Amino acid sequence: MNRVGGVAMRGKLINTKTRDAARSATVQGSQESWLQGEGEMADKEQSIPPLERGHALIAHRVFPGQSNTNGTLFGGEALRWMDEAAGIAAGRCARKAVVTAAMDRVEFHVPIMSGALVETIARVTKIGRTSMQVIAEVWTEDLFNGERTLATSANFVMVAVDDDGRPTPVETE
Ligand SMILES: CC(C)(COP(=O)(O)OP(=O)(O)OC[C@H]1O[C@@H](n2cnc3c(N)ncnc32)[C@H](O)[C@@H]1OP(=O)(O)O)[C@@H](O)C(=O)NCCC(=O)NCCS
Repeated sequence: MNRVGGVAMRGKLINTKTRDAARSATVQGSQESWLQGEGEMADKEQSIPPLERGHALIAHRVFPGQSNTNGTLFGGEALRWMDEAAGIAAGRCARKAVVTAAMDRVEFHVPIMSGALVETIARVTKIGRTSMQVIAEVWTEDLFNGERTLATSANFVMVAVDDDGRPTPVETE
């Protein structure tokens, strides 16, 4: 496992040291490992659902209309993509409607240039009674050489809800 992949797999907070590695590393393969649930997080957390239950991957190109006055991606767009991916991952996990209850540890590690190819990935890392913890990350990818860099990350709590919008249990089987 490479270093940046380890950051993602730990699925917690990306400290300064690893964040710096994320800024410069070539990370081909790390996302695949992360999505396969390998690594420390998968070893330690028994409640991590299998890959087919609780992941999402969305690819985008950054358009000028999504950029700020610096010519880089507006942070709110990245939040929207991560929220969307987290909702898909949690919805797949619960097979129920979900809402976002909380979002924290939002970190913008590197700017994303207008025109960039980005992938937003999310994975459920823990299932509670009605809630699910989800890690979401936005990665940039150099279209020509495949080099990937972790740009943005956040942790989410998504809650399964019934038709009345009230929390409803997530079945673990
Ligand atoms: C999320 C929501 C359904 C929770 O309803 P609630 O009556 O407060 O629910 P509860 O207190 O019973 O909590 C339900 C679960 O959510 C978790 N939860 C609720 N708020 C949370 C928060 N701020 N942080 C972390 N977890 C939270 C609880 O720990 C609990 O988890 P568990 O069942 O796995 O133990 C409700 O607050 C809501 O509808 N919020 C608005 C959601 C929304 O509009 N999101 C944006 C658009 S999707």
